[in-house]
Amino acid sequence: MRTILVTGGAGYIGSHTLVELLQNTNYRVISLDNFSNSLEKTYDRIKKISPRPLETLALDLCDKTRLYEALGRIGQIDGIIHFAAYKSVPESMKEPLLYYHNNLSSLNNLLSYANDNGINHFIFSSSCSVYGNADDLPVTEESPLKKAESPYGHTKQVGEDMISFFCKSNPSFNAVLLRYFNPVGAHMSGLLGELPLNRPNNLVPIITQTAVGKNALTVFGTDYPTRDGSCIRDYIHVSDIADAHVRALHFLMEGKNASNCKVYNLGTGNGVTVLEAIASFEKVTGRTLSYGIGDRRGGDVIAIYANNTLAKKELNWVPRFGIDDMMLSAWKWQQNLELE
Ligand code: UD1
Repeated sequence: MRTILVTGGAGYIGSHTLVELLQNTNYRVISLDNFSNSLEKTYDRIKKISPRPLETLALDLCDKTRLYEALGRIGQIDGIIHFAAYKSVPESMKEPLLYYHNNLSSLNNLLSYANDNGINHFIFSSSCSVYGNADDLPVTEESPLKKAESPYGHTKQVGEDMISFFCKSNPSFNAVLLRYFNPVGAHMSGLLGELPLNRPNNLVPIITQTAVGKNALTVFGTDYPTRDGSCIRDYIHVSDIADAHVRALHFLMEGKNASNCKVYNLGTGNGVTVLEAIASFEKVTGRTLSYGIGDRRGGDVIAIYANNTLAKKELNWVPRFGIDDMMLSAWKWQQNLELE
């Protein structure tokens, strides 16, 4: 049986990917997390959805000595899906050094371990933030990477470069870099979703928290050069993102990659404004959301959405959910959280 290590498995996208791996593959699955922005009880939620065994390691990837010790006890690892990272654009503007240290030391340590132990299949969580303020939309994988608008985005650019140069130095190493657009929503069961430990920064958890009176939504800027003045993003259901990881893993394991460092956009291809996202939430839930209009937020790009043709063609991936499904599933999750 092949063994897959998932870093950041207790986090938002990691946990949904663990579910896909447990339900749709027969791999031995090991999750590593230091719970810096996640909770251990997420594993119990995963086990409610899938009864297959899930092994777990509580560990900080920046601690190289402990990392080598812990991974050394596992036996042969066949593939790594690397999610663990800090991911808030505004937090990274305030704490850039924290982001460079955490996101890049961890990646360096993990690549070193892979290099030293002959682990040749690697999937990296990248982000559409690597495109910066793109000149032409939708962006393809060939679109030039502009200057990153935030340290968060820059850590993803540097992370991609580290992997790409490592691939050049080590032709037997195979990597897929997945550029997520805006992952939102929750598992359709309502049993799993985003669980921000601190006050969330992302739009959809703020919307659902506002609807239950636990937050106050402000739209950051309505004076952008877009159809309604608010920023445009490509929201993509988290379970579609998770599904793409399983497909990317099969693609690597089956040796289908033409080059040893492949990049794919993971978005629906639809640009949605902040005000349209709010309207979708109001439509599917039948609730009116009260919100304010505020200033632009530092680090935000104006508009971005994906050309996803390559992932569809080469990974055989098709996003199944639209913005209404994303909002409804996020709302179901928020309502379940309220019952706890
Ligand atoms: C960014 C990345 C995305 C990454 C995510 C991780 C870009 C373009 N995208 O998403 O790839 O997965 O970080 O966190 O860099 N907004 C409000 N009010 C709020 C919160 C957000 O109006 O209270 C607006 C933002 O200004 C933005 C949109 O909603 O226009 C989405 O924001 P958010 O959910 O924070 O994600 P991004 O920063 O776009």
